[in-house]
Amino acid sequence: MSPGQCSPRLVVIGAGGHAKVVIEAVRAAAAGELVGTIDPAPASGSVLGIPVLGGDDILPRLLSEGIGAAVVALGSNALRERIGSRLREMGFVLPTIVHPSAFVAPSARLGEGVVIMARAVVGTEATVGDLAIVNTGAVLDHDNRIGRAAHVAPACGLAGNVRVGDRALIGVGSAVRPDICIGADAVVGAGSAVVAEVPSGAVVGGVPARTLRRGPRA
Ligand SMILES: CC(C)(COP(=O)(O)OP(=O)(O)OC[C@H]1O[C@@H](n2cnc3c(N)ncnc32)[C@H](O)[C@@H]1OP(=O)(O)O)[C@@H](O)C(=O)NCCC(=O)NCCS
Repeated sequence: MSPGQCSPRLVVIGAGGHAKVVIEAVRAAAAGELVGTIDPAPASGSVLGIPVLGGDDILPRLLSEGIGAAVVALGSNALRERIGSRLREMGFVLPTIVHPSAFVAPSARLGEGVVIMARAVVGTEATVGDLAIVNTGAVLDHDNRIGRAAHVAPACGLAGNVRVGDRALIGVGSAVRPDICIGADAVVGAGSAVVAEVPSGAVVGGVPARTLRRGPRA
């Protein structure tokens, strides 16, 4: 934040494990004043000292009280995309959060509502779509294109020019060969080595990654 700018008042959507990591990233980045989290059925009354304020129904009131920024901290890619769109329509700003220990190349581009976690790397001329997550220690090399609300999980390594479709999940610790395209809504299982294209909606896993399922579970 540049000198003279006000710190935005932020609400976090979600109160689970991912929300905890997001809260610490917001604090580390001094990205705003955390006023609370939203969860209709919380496991406890607060998360890392941040109160759970209630369910989605209180969002209009928060907006009218000047809490104008929201970070969608939901692990489900489809849900994060849906809620993020709804919040934008309501008038919330979706700030981009970058943990101070991450490296984002000057030529990289990050969309709104993106979260870049600790020790992640976003390389030269990479782009990260709105509401996507680049999780702890993930490395995106040059020219990657990460889709809207996609999730590159912790400790993944994506070589140059990889394309990841909207809402796709690249599971923890996976590696992806250069120039590979992973389709929208695809899931790459934990610890996989992706050496060939992954069709939209497919679930792949293993070293090298093979198809586990071609679509969502019946
Ligand atoms: C791939 C994945 C989605 C499959 O989950 P699932 O649909 O519940 O599948 P199951 O656990 O029932 O396993 C089905 C089969 O796939 C195999 N399999 C599951 N995950 C695998 C993986 N990562 N790599 C290779 N094979 C895998 C299982 O061994 C099983 O094989 P079998 O039928 O021969 O016994 C899940 O295992 C996974 O890896 N998710 C990624 C989670 C992640 O990294 N999240 C990020 C959080 S930050």
